[in-house]
Amino acid sequence: MSSHAERHTAPTPRRSWSRRAALAVTAAGAVLGLLTTAPTATAAAPHRSAAPAVAAPDIPLANVKAHLSQLQSIATANGGNRAHGRAGYRASIDYIKGKLDAAGYTTTLQQFTAGGATGWNLIADWPGGDPQQVLMAGAHLDSVTSGPGINDNGSGSSAVLETALAVAREGLQPTKHLRFGWWGAEELGLLGSKYYVNNLPSTERAKVAGYLNFDMIGSPNPGYFVYDDDPQIESVFKNYFASLNVPTEIETEGDGRSDHAPFKNVGIPVGGLFTGADYTKTSAQAQKWGGTAGTSFDRCYHSSCDTTANINDTALDRNSDAVAHAVWTLSAGSTPPSGNVYENAADLPVPDAGAAVTSSVTVSGRTGNAPDALKVSVDIKHTWRGDLVIDLLAPDGSSYRLKNSSGNDSADNVLATYTVNASSETANGTWKLRVQDVAAQDTGYLDSWKLTF
Ligand code: TRP
Ligand code: ZN
Ligand code: CA
Repeated sequence: MSSHAERHTAPTPRRSWSRRAALAVTAAGAVLGLLTTAPTATAAAPHRSAAPAVAAPDIPLANVKAHLSQLQSIATANGGNRAHGRAGYRASIDYIKGKLDAAGYTTTLQQFTAGGATGWNLIADWPGGDPQQVLMAGAHLDSVTSGPGINDNGSGSSAVLETALAVAREGLQPTKHLRFGWWGAEELGLLGSKYYVNNLPSTERAKVAGYLNFDMIGSPNPGYFVYDDDPQIESVFKNYFASLNVPTEIETEGDGRSDHAPFKNVGIPVGGLFTGADYTKTSAQAQKWGGTAGTSFDRCYHSSCDTTANINDTALDRNSDAVAHAVWTLSAGSTPPSGNVYENAADLPVPDAGAAVTSSVTVSGRTGNAPDALKVSVDIKHTWRGDLVIDLLAPDGSSYRLKNSSGNDSADNVLATYTVNASSETANGTWKLRVQDVAAQDTGYLDSWKLTF
């Protein structure tokens, strides 16, 4: 770079970096109560200023599948289905209710009439939490008459049940009040969930901070679809799958085709997951998710073959864990945890026109991904900051350029806070700041840097 070379031929008087560096180290040491010795490249232990939110437990796939087996047995014993108005539906309700009652839930059966038959919604409240902020999660429990409805929607019903049981096992004390719902007569046109919402007084509706819907989450040829509704709910799900390195797509197989619609229609923030029904998996989707292109996500959709054999275990496992993750995350508080600081204050010389050096901080105890506005604060003492190239390296090695070199930025030091969209990066792990001095003569050192989540 010609302008860069030029400034070396016409140097301006500057103080020596070493003297200023020594002063800076003394000042930093006095403030931080450390660093009484010479600068060193040894990484200091990171610290953080606040405890992270409690992480959701892994939901055991075997438990979710045990519920599916029970629902299959109920269908088999009752004419092959669990449809609205049939004995298999009532038996399904009784099975779920029995588990919840034994775990300490307050359960309510809400009766309604549809198509000349009696139907029920099952509502389960977990005692505690702020009654003014209610987080709901739900699934339809009825099948069509033509089959046992194991993927549609034993899968969502069982994952929500097992999440509710995990809440009880863990003794979760969420900030928000938690409520779970199993809806009747979804297959007749969302009749149970419509009945629930229509009969919820407006003062009660106003307390529902969000509704999460799970309808078909174990499809045998699965896709990973996230509802494109409330952005905060959507990003909790997307971040979870990103942390598993599972790509997601926006759900487009029919907005309003499930029980979130009545909630959405009265202004309640909604979200949810879906692994696909009768649409065909494209070759692009088969490439990213595996499975078979050119056939439907669920070839047994609304058929007699929607049995326990009609489940992809990996999809059911991932989605069940995602249900728990969302329930834990979204019930934890009104704002996501923030203000945790991970700092490395060990001095690190940056060799003049030399190799890049890195300084690490270790992030642990977080769930999911890093924020979309991750703050990276950098304090570098240097006699010509234009020499410096600075990158943030995520735990998987992806790099984010914070600052380029510049031939005409002759100011001293880098004292800056950069904002990085790190929402595709797993939060936990070793993050690095990489600093390289790319031009001869002026030199300096990394004094400290920190990440604020
Ligand atoms: N609820 C639908 C049914 O049982 C299934 C379904 C189709 C769906 N498309 C959807 C669910 C999109 C959620 C989102 O027939
Ligand atoms: Zn259905
Ligand atoms: Ca230099």
